Amino acid sequence: MSKKVALITGITGQDGAYLAEYLIRKGYIVHGLKRRSSLFNTERIDHLYQDPHEQDRRLILHYGDLTDSLNLTRIIGETQPEEIYNLAAMSHVKVSFDTPEYTANADALGVLRILEAVRLLKLTHKTRIYQASTSELYGLVQEVPQKETTPFYPRSPYAVAKLYGYWITVNYREAYGMHASNGILFNHESPLRGETFVTRKVTRAIARIALGMQEKVYMGNLSARRDWGHAKDYIRAMHAILQQDEPSDYVIATGITTTIRDFIRMSFGEIGIGIEFRGEGMEETARLSSVDEARFVRKVGDNYLEALRKRIGQELVGVDVNYFRPAEVDLLIGDSTKARSRLGWEPEYTLESLIEDMMHHDLKLMKKDSYLQRGGYKILNYFE
Ligand code: NAP
Ligand code: GDD
Repeated sequence: MSKKVALITGITGQDGAYLAEYLIRKGYIVHGLKRRSSLFNTERIDHLYQDPHEQDRRLILHYGDLTDSLNLTRIIGETQPEEIYNLAAMSHVKVSFDTPEYTANADALGVLRILEAVRLLKLTHKTRIYQASTSELYGLVQEVPQKETTPFYPRSPYAVAKLYGYWITVNYREAYGMHASNGILFNHESPLRGETFVTRKVTRAIARIALGMQEKVYMGNLSARRDWGHAKDYIRAMHAILQQDEPSDYVIATGITTTIRDFIRMSFGEIGIGIEFRGEGMEETARLSSVDEARFVRKVGDNYLEALRKRIGQELVGVDVNYFRPAEVDLLIGDSTKARSRLGWEPEYTLESLIEDMMHHDLKLMKKDSYLQRGGYKILNYFE
């Protein structure tokens, strides 16, 4: 039986890495689009790497960029994929306010370039396309919870660009009969999450605070609410969407929403640190209020307990206006009934087990990574 061929754009990102591993395990040959960078940017997929001289390679990387239509057309033509997962994007909402034109080029026109390449190459009836759409489309939410029929109201250059990506996917499906589908994925996180998204920023900072490497972390809007799942669960949905006889659009979400404040509280709590929030707005802070010593020793180690005890009453979290966005998405909570009934999709992780996974990973990372111990953390001084 011949192996299925998939092309993943954004293979070096969080979702691309998990999806590549998942598809290879299913027997696919996976081609990945990788941007040229002056430093290696393949850390998330290095464990899947195969030397080009090996026979029967299952992972093959190609230099490319969503802003380069000739390159996309050539790669799609050469690889002749049965499935394309378009995961590449400038994916940071706050950064999209700083780089709106580039974001539109990559996140909006990039989608068009892929669809048009498939059409021009006459692969319309062979190649199925997954477009990485987003709950950010709901922005200023018009309905709670959000489902496939909820009207969109994007609130950032990122979300407006993704709105084009969503509709051009629907349009090519209707106009040319392409098997092109949108996954409207709510926030999903993991130990591979980019360091400047809120969950990873928090778990990294808490790991450093617990190990005595950092005093305090500064955050933006603590009252925003997100529906957070685990990326490992969400990439299963991407694959299932392309296995359906008919293309369609699906919300993928847990149906539970949590404030940033509670995410921080739960993440400290996961390693036995109790915190108490006080004050409002820019004046809001969280202080170290208690330590569950048995839990802390089990999760972090007894070497760090004495130093932490001495910090009871000190501020661990503050607010910095620079992390606020010009327009905010206050509340996201998804209704994924359609995916659950048609795809049989269910998340396996809870928010608690997601946090456990991320905290465990970041504690291990901070203990062993001398670059981070020396101050590599300063990369977070950008206000993302
Ligand atoms: P991510 O970790 O930021 O990964 C983005 C990927 O896109 C990286 O591989 C990046 O390459 C690549 N990329 C960026 N600009 C590109 C360009 N111009 N040409 C080619 N590649 C480019 O994002 P993620 O969390 O895995 O998300 C995957 C996709 O799902 C994105 O489209 C995102 O917008 C969307 N999404 C994410 C979530 C979420 O909660 N994670 C929810 C809904 C939708 P480098 O490694 O070189 O930077
Ligand atoms: N990044 C960040 N940093 N966000 C903060 C901070 C902070 O210090 N403090 C508070 N927040 C709030 C943001 O204002 C936002 O309301 C929320 O935390 C989540 O921010 P992010 O983790 O950056 O994610 P996002 O929801 O804006 O976007 C992510 O999810 C989308 C799906 O809804 C990205 O992965 C997008 O690519 C994705 O489409």
